[in-house]
Amino acid sequence: MISEFAPTVTAVSSAIQKVDADALVLGVAKGPEGPVLLPNPLAEKAAKGVSDSLTALGASGAADQLLRLPGVDGYRSETLVLVGVGKLTGEPDGGVSLEALRRAAGSAVRQLSSAQSVALALPAATVEQVAAVAEGAALGAYNFPHFKGSEEAKAKTPVSEIAVLTELRDKHTKPAVARASVVAAAVRATRDLVNTPPSHLYPESFADVVKANAKGTKLKVKVWDHKDLEKDGFGGLLGVGNGSSRKPRLVRIEHSPSRPVAHIALVGKGITFDTGGISLKPANAMTTMKLDMAGAATVAAVVRAAADLDLPVKVTGWLCLAENMPSSTAQRPEDVITIYGGKTVEVLNTDAEGRLVMADGIVAAGEESPDAIIDVATLTGAQMIALGLRTVGVMGQDALRDRIVEASKDAGESHWAMPIPEEAITSFESPIADLTNLGAREGGMLNAAAFLREFVPQRTDADKDALDPESNRIPWAHIDLAGPAFNEKGAYNYVPKGGTGVTVRTLVSYLEGLSR
Ligand code: BES
Ligand code: MN
Ligand code: ZN
Repeated sequence: MISEFAPTVTAVSSAIQKVDADALVLGVAKGPEGPVLLPNPLAEKAAKGVSDSLTALGASGAADQLLRLPGVDGYRSETLVLVGVGKLTGEPDGGVSLEALRRAAGSAVRQLSSAQSVALALPAATVEQVAAVAEGAALGAYNFPHFKGSEEAKAKTPVSEIAVLTELRDKHTKPAVARASVVAAAVRATRDLVNTPPSHLYPESFADVVKANAKGTKLKVKVWDHKDLEKDGFGGLLGVGNGSSRKPRLVRIEHSPSRPVAHIALVGKGITFDTGGISLKPANAMTTMKLDMAGAATVAAVVRAAADLDLPVKVTGWLCLAENMPSSTAQRPEDVITIYGGKTVEVLNTDAEGRLVMADGIVAAGEESPDAIIDVATLTGAQMIALGLRTVGVMGQDALRDRIVEASKDAGESHWAMPIPEEAITSFESPIADLTNLGAREGGMLNAAAFLREFVPQRTDADKDALDPESNRIPWAHIDLAGPAFNEKGAYNYVPKGGTGVTVRTLVSYLEGLSR
């Protein structure tokens, strides 16, 4: 969405001797009795040479291991590269899962960043396997050099030509690789937005990026500026955003195919920087808070991908954009604000700001009576306490929640269903307003979900079958990716340091599943 970079990804079924790439990558798995060279297109003698020396070379097959060797006679690549794919699963398909292929391809491409072109000779005997290698490789082809000072550093690109070697000649290969490219581009766009510093990305500039990105597509974009938000009564966005000189925005993006099978609304948390506001965060908890717009970035990228893939689902994306700053115009603890639609909230902690802007977005999204509302937010530190740094929490109406978790398995992402206990909402009771914004500390992720659910519109008029039978609300799910959205530690498989773009692939898979 910000960088123009995109690698070319192609499935190549011509003879391997003709393939001219800087590096030729083979896979090594961890077998029961040591490293195993995976099936590959090298001639028997060459393959045996590599295979026999695996142990001597120190190739263990461990995931993320990368060994560079001189090229082999008869092949045009200057380097032969061995990448670890991890343990074999023992399944009849050869024992390498699709996700293991994505990770191995991504790991190789990420670590070969000084190469310009890479050919991947990993197991690719089915359309799914070719697509997995293509997707992983395109996810690994990422860097974020835009804020480096020297022209040389700024111009540094990742691997820009990716060839997936396969013997398969199937008409479904090309569209599958094209899909992989689109999905990976959406993930990279999300990472770019998350990595962009708050000096450069704030509500207005975020809205501008979205508008620019929709140019030349059929996407429709509508932006509420500060005046519009006041006129329409978006009290959550205004309450949170008013402490900053950079005023809040609400953005609606629409993908509207001619005969949609469903209408899904996606709502994203877009706090471009979260200082905590008057309930100021300590300094060490404030760094990384540029990540607090990851939900909105995810939503923007998924709507764009839905358009690029021509999905027969109407998708409306709602980006709730504000900067949470302390100042004399900032909201105070104990202020009462009115969320869009009329519910009032006593703000007891200005650092619980995400739920306030998301409440506005959920009510607005619900006004159009979509078939489902899915919100995506870096909502709570409690998410990381509950599920760690790599597993995203999914809550909400059981059926929708479980469908999203299923979609994440297909996508190769880790999402986990969590409950909203009955008592979770009770801790939000306010003596003077409808709710406070501060629930119990214990189960903080679940409590925040219970707060958001209060704003999911109830429907009495429309088709009752479509509604959540327990609450009569529009089916709704809440995705908390506070930890997994940002990788503070080292890069691994196709995941770089910084913004990860997690949940994009899950939501694309979910939307694709609606028309299958
Ligand atoms: N943006 C944070 C949540 C967060 C924390 C995301 C760490 C990623 C990493 C959110 O706005 C926040 O501050 N939540 C508070 C809520 C509390 C005051 C009820 C939290 O989790 O501590
Ligand atoms: Mn906060
Ligand atoms: Zn926040």
